[in-house]
Amino acid sequence: MFGASVKFVLSVAVWLSSWTLNCSAQTEEEKQPEYWNNLAWQDIQDVLQLQPRTGVAKNLVLFLGDGMGVSTVTAGRILKGQLAGRTGEEELLEMDKLPYSALVKTYNVDRQTGDSAGTATAYLSGVKANYGTVGVDATVARGDCAASFTAKTTSILEHAHAAGKSVGIVATARVTHATPAGTYAYAANRAWEHDGKMPSEAKALGCTDIAQQLVEDNPFIKVILGGGRGYFTSTDQSDPEYPDQTGFRTDGRDLIQEWQDGKQGAAARYVWRKAEFDQVDPAETDFLMGLFEPDHMQYSLDNEDDPAGEPTIAEMTTKAIQILSKNPNGFFLLVEGSKIDLGHHFGLAAHALNDLVAFNDAIAVGKNMLDLDETLITVTADHSHMFGFGGYAPRGTPILGIVPKSDDNIVLDGMPFTNILYGNGPGGSLGGRQNLTGVDTADKNYRQQAAVPMKYESHGGEDVSVFADGPMAHLFRGLHEQVYVAHVMKYAACIGEYTEKCRTSRNQTSAGDQHTWSGFTVFITLLLLKTIIN
Ligand SMILES: *[C@@H]1O[C@H](CO)[C@@H](O)[C@H](O)[C@H]1NC(C)=O
Ligand SMILES: *[C@@H]1O[C@H](CO)[C@@H](O)[C@H](O)[C@H]1NC(C)=O
Ligand SMILES: [Zn+2]
Repeated sequence: MFGASVKFVLSVAVWLSSWTLNCSAQTEEEKQPEYWNNLAWQDIQDVLQLQPRTGVAKNLVLFLGDGMGVSTVTAGRILKGQLAGRTGEEELLEMDKLPYSALVKTYNVDRQTGDSAGTATAYLSGVKANYGTVGVDATVARGDCAASFTAKTTSILEHAHAAGKSVGIVATARVTHATPAGTYAYAANRAWEHDGKMPSEAKALGCTDIAQQLVEDNPFIKVILGGGRGYFTSTDQSDPEYPDQTGFRTDGRDLIQEWQDGKQGAAARYVWRKAEFDQVDPAETDFLMGLFEPDHMQYSLDNEDDPAGEPTIAEMTTKAIQILSKNPNGFFLLVEGSKIDLGHHFGLAAHALNDLVAFNDAIAVGKNMLDLDETLITVTADHSHMFGFGGYAPRGTPILGIVPKSDDNIVLDGMPFTNILYGNGPGGSLGGRQNLTGVDTADKNYRQQAAVPMKYESHGGEDVSVFADGPMAHLFRGLHEQVYVAHVMKYAACIGEYTEKCRTSRNQTSAGDQHTWSGFTVFITLLLLKTIIN
């Protein structure tokens, strides 16, 4: 007992001293006004030197952080810095370094706070939709199969394919989950991910489940990496990684086998574990399906405990780009950091934020592998969360820690509080706040407290950021409807309804500019000549 408390006091002392050292090292130069003046002047020069890239985007890569609201980006940035032993606040994520940014409004047509399906339809197809619907316009109420047939929208993935580009999706959720589904599926209800989740009336009307749509209607998708194996296999098939579990489909189909059968004669591979994934040679592979879990993939912090091992989101992104970039016409790739959202829903901030750091690594891969004169990289979120941090913690306070008491944060119940708190969610309590004295709030499975106890923490309704670089990235500025994201991508690549608009408007703009300038130059020259002659 005594030994344990001595150890605890010692470890707190060690932590405090290391924190104080770190903190002072980081902030010493910040005490000099020149530090800030120089930093800002450097930023001004960088912005002055920015040259919009006006070519046509051959490649489009959309990095989508599910549930990655602005407060999540800030907290993830601090965590990344602290994992590297720094104070954290001054850190920059890969998305922070992209030169252009905007805000987008995330509401659904029928709800003030949106979900991943309605918002996916907005930023992938360019049409705002209803809550819980995917790939269909707002004439479709959630679950109305009959209305969906005449309401299909066309996603950026479909436009890219039609333009002769290769297309692929990478997610850490099930590949049938709302965000990836937004690229290829049409469903009046996002929950219709396998046949067993569909009402019989919808099936009788001819609506099909999302896994079936992926395999049957989209044989051209070259890279499909993520989770959701059980949604493609039936209840009489046992799972290769968890032999005591079966697939979820009730129609007896093995859609993974069907996908492979449909690729006969093509260089196609299906993999379900890390070792096989690592052996895939992109030069020899044109189609790759990798389903690494029966359900969602692991949180990045749990990856090492996975029985069969899983590739990281950065590794999946690398392989996807290697395969897709073999097409001389270019490609479209969606990379979703899916489990930022799921961590939040369960009130598990450590998982949400560590998955954001893993997602950041995937963005680094994209920036390093691709030429930004011919690739538009866009980073955004579908919606935010009821997630916040604050309370006047001193500089460098562990983001997953407790905020030290001060005169600025007088807690009325006298108990400690964490830096991160949720507005609602499973961290809420029916019997008042838990006393956090002695609780390890940095544990990866610690649930931060929430004001309103709810089974699952909810999305937030405020705007989210878009960060971009590459051709036409400078169109991201100011505040827009979320649909703007899809339209800028289409305009940048001159695809979809912008194929013609782009050819005329862009060529006219540049030719017109030249014409005006040369006319102006001639006018000035004549004026000067006249002055001299006079
Ligand atoms: C919280 O717990 C600590 C340790 O058990 C105790 O000293 C403190 O008084 C408690 N605070 C409140 C407000 O109950
Ligand atoms: C501009 O015009 C040229 C020649 O007419 C054409 O080859 C090119 O594709 C056009 N640019 C765009 C952006 O469509
Ligand atoms: Zn969500």
